[in-house]
Formats: sequence, structure tokens, C-alpha cells
Amino acid sequence: MNAPLPLILDCDPGVDDFVAILMILAASERFNLLGITVSGGNVALRYTAENTLKACELAGRRDVKVYAGCPGPLLRTLAIEDGVHGETGLKGITLPPSTLKLQPEHAVDFLIETLMTFPQKVTLATTAPLTNVALAIVREPRILDNIEEIVTMGGSMHLGNITPAAEYNFYADPEAAHILYTCGKKITTIGIDVTHQAVVSLEWLEQLKHLKNPVAKTIFPMLHAFREYDMKYFEVGGGVLHDPCVIGYLLNRSLFKGKDVHVEVDTSFSLTRGRTVVDWWHKRGLPINAHVFNEVNAEEFFDLLLGLLARYGGEAP
Ligand code: BDR
Ligand code: CA
Repeated sequence: MNAPLPLILDCDPGVDDFVAILMILAASERFNLLGITVSGGNVALRYTAENTLKACELAGRRDVKVYAGCPGPLLRTLAIEDGVHGETGLKGITLPPSTLKLQPEHAVDFLIETLMTFPQKVTLATTAPLTNVALAIVREPRILDNIEEIVTMGGSMHLGNITPAAEYNFYADPEAAHILYTCGKKITTIGIDVTHQAVVSLEWLEQLKHLKNPVAKTIFPMLHAFREYDMKYFEVGGGVLHDPCVIGYLLNRSLFKGKDVHVEVDTSFSLTRGRTVVDWWHKRGLPINAHVFNEVNAEEFFDLLLGLLARYGGEAP
């Protein structure tokens, strides 16, 4: 078996980030989770940080180090998504306050220190506006030498989900996304073209219900609420599991299909703010800076997710 992948997650829970964290913690033999960094995003940082601690506590992982980072984007005003994720970011559920504590260090300091000193190359998974990551790159570009791969949930080749043109994470901090796509690394990109294929169906929720472990019981009502919102606004057949796709990819790369392309992020202050211009047919002849996915095997992805959640107890149906 391969050695566990050294991993840092940058997130903003958020319902789907919450599930992504639970996936990582369930697959503990596959990941050496060095820490989780958090930014403001879906909801304010005080909630996203607390929700991260709650996910770790729910998973029984009191050892995970969580670092709070930037409360808002580099230049713009934070655009929260409490309509999608609920006022506290965990729509449909109320958990007791976490008994875990944040690390005293700032997320950006943690990213720089860890990436400069960890003896192996580290994979960076991002499921939030890219503020923490961009700041770390600008402050210490040498961190890029010790990054194995950056896998980011963000962008869209077609329609947007926060505006007609843009996906939320890149819209929220387009300058940070621009820094990522011009940093010289090939960014593995999972945009909403893919994640809208990974939707929670009622049938799958029924299977989840059968698990009867505390994690499954907690996320069941949350995913129900998430599902209703997405079905209402996005003409999809269920709740869209954006961020879990990143972890699904890290666990089973064969589930995703895409290609090497050039991506540019629109940093204008116009209608197309945050739009990813994906040059799928290489029209501009610019260097490759991304591997963009456009297809996921949703059935296998949901089997994988259910199997991971079953590890918290109960039996996979
Ligand atoms: C992204 O925005 C947030 O709503 C989700 O957590 C996800 O990271 C999808 O556009
Ligand atoms: Ca997110």
C-alpha cells in the first residue's frame, strides 16, 4: 500500500466542506493530514473555523490541527452564501459548541512554515475562496517547490452559481484565484461543470440513513436541507457535493476525466467578475496551467462516499 499522502486542506465549512473533512478523516490510512486551514467564505470566519472544529470532534479526531486564516478576500468585500449553507454554515443542524481549540498560529503562517520545512512534498486541497493560499504564495513563493499538487474546487466552464458567469469560490476572491493560476504550477481544477454531476439523490440519502452512526445521523438532515436548496435554484436532481469531489479525486483519480488547458480568471469589476476562461480547444495558444475536469463517475463517487461514512460505524447497505 502507498504511504499516506501528506495533505493540507484549506476550506470554509459550509455543508459540503464539512462532508469533505469527514471524508479525509475517515480515510486516515490514505492521508497524513498536516493541518486544516480555514478562511471566511460561505459564512464568516468565526463560523467556518468553529464548523471545522465541529467536524473534527464529530469524527473523534481531537488531534487534528485547525488554523484560522483570512476573514475575507484580498481586495473585495466578503460575499457570504448563507442562503445556501444556512446562517451558521451548517444548514439543517445544530451542534453543541466545539470543545476543541484553534491553533494559535495564523493559517498563512502555518502554510508557509509547513511547506518550507516538511520533508516530503505536500498536496494542497482547496475548497474555499483562495485567499489564504494566495497570500502564502505571495509572501513566500518558494513554498511552491514543496507542493506536490494543488487540487482546487472552483470555477466553471459554463454557467456560474453565484452570478450567471462565475462560480462562488473564484467570484469571492478573483485576485487570489488569479494568483493561483499564474503561480507556475499546473492546477488540478474541479469546477461546477463536474460537481453538478455529483448530486445527492433521495435513494442515496436512504442508504445513508441506514448507517445509523453519529456522523451519518448528523449529516443526514444537513444534506436534506442542502438538497432542497440546490434543486430549487439549479435545476439539478439533488444537493451538489462540490467540495467532496476534491477528496474523491485524491482517493480515486480514475473517477474523473478532463484535460490540460490554459485557464484565466477574470479579475474585472464587471458582470463577469471571477469567471474562469477555460481554453478547452487551445485557441489562445497559451501555456498549460491547469488540468480541468469535466466528468465524474457519480455512481462510483457516491459508493466511495458511503463506504467512507460507514467507517464511522454501522454497515454499508
Ligand atoms: C463552492 O462554493 C461553496 O458554496 C461550496 O462550499 C463550494 O466550495 C461551490 O461553488
Ligand atoms: Ca467550500
